[in-house]
Amino acid sequence: MHDLLLGQTLSFSGDPMREGPQAARHQRKGGVVIAEGRIVALGSADEMRAAYPQARLHDYGERLISPGFIDAHVHFPQTAIIASWGKRLIDWLNHYTFPEESRFGEADYATKIAARYVDLALSHGTTAMCSYCTIHPESVDAFFTEAQARGMRAFGGKTCMDRNAPDTLRDTAQTAYDQSKALLERWHGVDRLSYVITPRFTPTSSPEQLSALGALWGEHPDCLMQTHLSEQVDEIAWVRELYPQARDYLDTYEMHGLLGARGVYGHAIHLEQRERDRLCELGAGIAHCPTSNTFIGSGLFDMEGLSLGGARVGLATDTGGGSSFSMLRTMAAAYEIAQLRHNPLHPAQLWWLATQGAARALHAEHQIGNLAPGLEADLAVIDLHSTPAIAQRAAQAEEFWEALFPTIMMGDDRAIAGMWIGGRKLR
Ligand code: GUN
Ligand code: ZN
Repeated sequence: MHDLLLGQTLSFSGDPMREGPQAARHQRKGGVVIAEGRIVALGSADEMRAAYPQARLHDYGERLISPGFIDAHVHFPQTAIIASWGKRLIDWLNHYTFPEESRFGEADYATKIAARYVDLALSHGTTAMCSYCTIHPESVDAFFTEAQARGMRAFGGKTCMDRNAPDTLRDTAQTAYDQSKALLERWHGVDRLSYVITPRFTPTSSPEQLSALGALWGEHPDCLMQTHLSEQVDEIAWVRELYPQARDYLDTYEMHGLLGARGVYGHAIHLEQRERDRLCELGAGIAHCPTSNTFIGSGLFDMEGLSLGGARVGLATDTGGGSSFSMLRTMAAAYEIAQLRHNPLHPAQLWWLATQGAARALHAEHQIGNLAPGLEADLAVIDLHSTPAIAQRAAQAEEFWEALFPTIMMGDDRAIAGMWIGGRKLR
């Protein structure tokens, strides 16, 4: 049985960061055909109706059918401490984050928050994400179980820390390796789930732990590896004290086998030239987390240098350092940061960074992140008139991007008018 969704459609034929908005394809009266969990055809509504006359029709009218949003870096265990005020990174971790993350050894609590997080993400149009869990294997089981129950493509891993964290949140080099390996063997490749090797960041892992996780990655090179890099200047100074022999922050990962194209480095704001060049020449993944970068006071990400240089930049909420579950709000913050750097981003670029760009950062662009035949049918349907403020501005628009931009800048979960996960209609 085929499903045919009618509405405006937005897809990508190339990379708008390089090629500009002409790499985006908009159809005012478009159609998307889905069967057995995948997109099988995309075209004009008339063509699709003629080619699939038996398909079940879902008419979304003027609404926009988009690939579901993909969040390239989030901490689901920080759901309940989002919007905690008054601290910068290290104090914020010690004061808010570590006490909350200490609760996830209790499986019931981990499950409750994982379910809450996944449902909040879905309600904001996010169909896939790459999440940090906590040091507790229970938190990983909870995250994957809840994503699996909803049929989602999800990436995640146990956040390893063996120093500079409270007793309640420390493992060792050996238990980090053993537990990560056991979780990887349990979850990696099951349904739509992928295990991600996850050292939190250099300050909270001993050299032995970084080496052990580098070795695990070497044994499972098809896995992603995620960590944090050069988010705040105090953090970088701390890394320099811990590793006086390293060339720079990135080198602390490189010397332990934790640098590669399948690495997803969160933040990457205050980079040395060598670090920038290395990330770009490798085509490494970078998660740009703009609401977090302003909320925690980290700095202004160099979108142009990194994405044109060849790194795989995707957008991410970084909830709960980030201040929103919404990839629309995240696009707005990315726009604002780019404005402060005098490099404005086009709406097509913002939308791409939250869909196909994020998929590329996770090496999943052949599965998700676009409307194209063969890709998995994870879709978000967007109401471009979801509030009076947005509607009155969109009504003035003379072309599609102008009609879309008010939703990027002012939209939230009220703009999500429909959701499909793996070809299944949620609403
Ligand atoms: N660096 C290390 N851990 C974290 C975290 O949980 N959030 C953010 N924003 N930065 C980090
Ligand atoms: Zn983070």
